Amino acid sequence: MNEKKIFILFCCILVVGTVFLAGCSQKEDRDLQATTTITTPFTGGSPSGGPITQSCIAPTMGNTGETPDFGSHFTATGLLTRPTSSSIIVSMVPKVPLEVCLLYGRLPGNYTCQTPAVPATAGSALNITITGLLPDTEYYYRVFYREPGIPGYQSGAEHTFHTQRSSGSTFTFGIQADSHPEREKQMFNSALYDQTMDNVAKDQPDFYLSLGDDFSIDNLIEKDQLSQASVDAVYLNQRNYLGLIGSDSPIFLVNGNHEEGARYMLDGTPDNPAVYAGTSRMKFFPQPVPDGFYTGDPDPVEYVGLPRDYYAWTWGDALFVVIDPYWHTPGIVDHVPGEDTTIKRDPWATTLGDAQYQWFKKTIEESDAPYKFVFAHHVQGTGRGGIENAGLYEWGGNSQNGGWEFDTKRPGWEFPLHQLMVENGVTAVFQGHDHLFVRQELDGVTYQEVPLPADPNYSMFNANAYRSGTELPNSGYIRVTVSPRNATVDYVKSYLPGKETASEKNGKVVYSYTLAPR
Ligand SMILES: [Fe+2]
Ligand SMILES: [Fe+2]
Repeated sequence: MNEKKIFILFCCILVVGTVFLAGCSQKEDRDLQATTTITTPFTGGSPSGGPITQSCIAPTMGNTGETPDFGSHFTATGLLTRPTSSSIIVSMVPKVPLEVCLLYGRLPGNYTCQTPAVPATAGSALNITITGLLPDTEYYYRVFYREPGIPGYQSGAEHTFHTQRSSGSTFTFGIQADSHPEREKQMFNSALYDQTMDNVAKDQPDFYLSLGDDFSIDNLIEKDQLSQASVDAVYLNQRNYLGLIGSDSPIFLVNGNHEEGARYMLDGTPDNPAVYAGTSRMKFFPQPVPDGFYTGDPDPVEYVGLPRDYYAWTWGDALFVVIDPYWHTPGIVDHVPGEDTTIKRDPWATTLGDAQYQWFKKTIEESDAPYKFVFAHHVQGTGRGGIENAGLYEWGGNSQNGGWEFDTKRPGWEFPLHQLMVENGVTAVFQGHDHLFVRQELDGVTYQEVPLPADPNYSMFNANAYRSGTELPNSGYIRVTVSPRNATVDYVKSYLPGKETASEKNGKVVYSYTLAPR
């Protein structure tokens, strides 16, 4: 056969194959027209290997139901991140070498689409992105897997997710802060964290935010045990908890001071706390990057890549904005691990930086969402209190002595952050760091200090820092239900079985209020 005949035969095969696939797509659910992007297994360092995009394929295996030992094959089972109107990431960490694919569809147990099976390395993050989804749609999915050479796939439990809600929708999202797994007994109890996650799971929020101090590596630094592997272990440990809800509710992270994902830690080498923290976060909790659906930080950090620390998106009638001072402040924002925490520093030095400020301004100015929610670890990245700090420094323009210094300290900035939010109709700021529940309001902006999910002492840390507002003790999470009429903020308390009283029950809403649309 000469070259011309071979070429004609090749073209015929290609045309027949394309027609067959197209026919399959038309006969099946519209989901089959989706595409699937597989991010190749992450093996450490910067992500290597570009995404592989190919057409969605019809499932080649039946719905076998959950395999009893599913969890034994994974160090971390599926965790959702970065939902958009048409895509989502499912993150997994296999315990042994596996081939993995996802089956998904719009009806329970009826999976009309499958991602291609890909090899996964033991101990490395495998992040599979499903694209081509329909907006404002509930999807059902299972993880299918097999060990190489073993015939037949096994599968995990069925889970669900929802793509971006349309304007006018009613939906819920959840928030926690400062889980501090490293502070056993002081403010952390594993069983209580499980209990809180169980309460969250019952609510099936569209997504869940954690406001920082969830991945402290201070102990590793202080004990000289810092390495990429030891920091990875901190992040994987948190997957044991957030993973309990993360298969159904995508996880968004806010950077806290104890993460040490901070500019002052950078030293020009790949071996420092900030690079390790940024790398672990990217591997095991892949957060949003600017991509047309999300806006955010476009500036890579050396040896980390995009830090994914500030970002914004719209969901239903609400704008969500996450901000971060730690990657943008040249000096120390809060503390140095193992050193005197009273170290003197200039509070004006703490900053979002020019680029983040201009992005924040543009984001809240240009959004016409009826609700605008801002999420930060703390209003100044450090200190204690809510509205008590909102008039100070970059946030409010004044120095501690009451003098207005904003114009000289922040040339080129139109307003301090609080005034900017007032001008642009921000509904609420959700912050952590202080380890209790406090609701306050200033100039029409609600400041909500978010409680701990797993404090077994049910404490009210730092209550004296707040001179107004409603204060309540830990533990639990904040559930926000957004509807066109209003947004309801509920504090859902968590109690261990032996700690319930006649009036204090696990899962009880102990405080609730509503926020009006603008
Ligand atoms: Fe904290
Ligand atoms: Fe903190």
